[in-house]
Amino acid sequence: MAAGHVRDVDAGVLDGARGARLVAEIDGRVAGTVEIHPNLPGQGSHVANAGFMVDPAFRGRGVGRALGGAAIERATKDGFHAMQFNAVVATNTQAVKLWHALGFETLTLIPEGFRHPSLGLVDMHLMYKVLT
Ligand SMILES: CC(C)(COP(=O)(O)OP(=O)(O)OC[C@H]1O[C@@H](n2cnc3c(N)ncnc32)[C@H](O)[C@@H]1OP(=O)(O)O)[C@@H](O)C(=O)NCCC(=O)NCCS
Repeated sequence: MAAGHVRDVDAGVLDGARGARLVAEIDGRVAGTVEIHPNLPGQGSHVANAGFMVDPAFRGRGVGRALGGAAIERATKDGFHAMQFNAVVATNTQAVKLWHALGFETLTLIPEGFRHPSLGLVDMHLMYKVLT
């Protein structure tokens, strides 16, 4: 899937903060979405955070990669200095692999930071990518 299938549905201001919502469409259906917003208010607002969700019916077809690339491009264009993911669950191997492939670095693992419903306490990645 090419990033060209990703379009902006809600640019500008989200709940009073800078940000954007993008959707990826396949055959006219929303296959996935990303929301980009400041990771922190005030003096931390130059670092973006983003939340991704791909419809399970469309996973493994490049939608997440397209949304990730589009989010990086959009946050860079909007002047964010970096993008930070605060809580990438270590057992979410697809996400971990994808974000590393898109240039995010794991700064640290938060030990047992997530209560997995079936696996119990698992680590979380704190990830960061400078956008320039
Ligand atoms: C994580 C998520 C966004 C990935 O979306 P996706 O559309 O399935 O991902 P893609 O098809 O673009 O695949 C991207 C990469 O994921 C990995 N991947 C995809 N399917 C995989 C599978 N079945 N097993 C292992 N790795 C897989 C591969 O590294 C792939 O890269 P490749 O294109 O070089 O093979 C999606 O699974 C999702 O919405 N999960 C639930 C919400 C979530 O976890 N959000 C992110 C929180 S940090």
